[in-house]
Amino acid sequence: MQIIKYVFQPHGDERGQLVALEELKDIPFRIRRVYYIYDTKKGVARGFHAHKNLKQILVCVHGSCKIRLDDGKEQKIVPLDKPYEGLYVSNTIWREMFDFSPDTVLMVLASELYNEDDYIRNYNDFLEYVKNYSESCTDEEVSK
Ligand code: TYD
Repeated sequence: MQIIKYVFQPHGDERGQLVALEELKDIPFRIRRVYYIYDTKKGVARGFHAHKNLKQILVCVHGSCKIRLDDGKEQKIVPLDKPYEGLYVSNTIWREMFDFSPDTVLMVLASELYNEDDYIRNYNDFLEYVKNYSESCTDEEVSK
């Protein structure tokens, strides 16, 4: 599984830093929704789902956390702690977020509006879904 991290351009000067994110330029899809997770309690993990269509960029704008990504074949853990870095999470990737520092703000840019029907929340259903998904796509499509 390929980990895709975007490194955004910080516009820094003596006043501090500013990062601007534009759809289809800095972000590889049209941004239809933004949400953020903060005030996360000690020891909690979140996520535990995949999506059928939705793609995301995760930006840890403050603090730190870890993201476990799972494509049904292998798992990788990606630490996020830089406000100028975005982790791309494709659809059909199971994701779990954990190890939040108390000050973490995790911002998520999403390619779709909130739609519960797009979620796969059961891990066995996810494994079944990716198996069928891979069979119905060409290798080139799957690697995107
Ligand atoms: P949940 O899916 O449990 O979050 P996580 O992926 O971090 O585990 O979402 C928490 C609640 O927020 C749940 O009641 C659904 C709601 N929610 C929205 O209303 N809109 C959204 O865009 C998102 C992501 C969640």
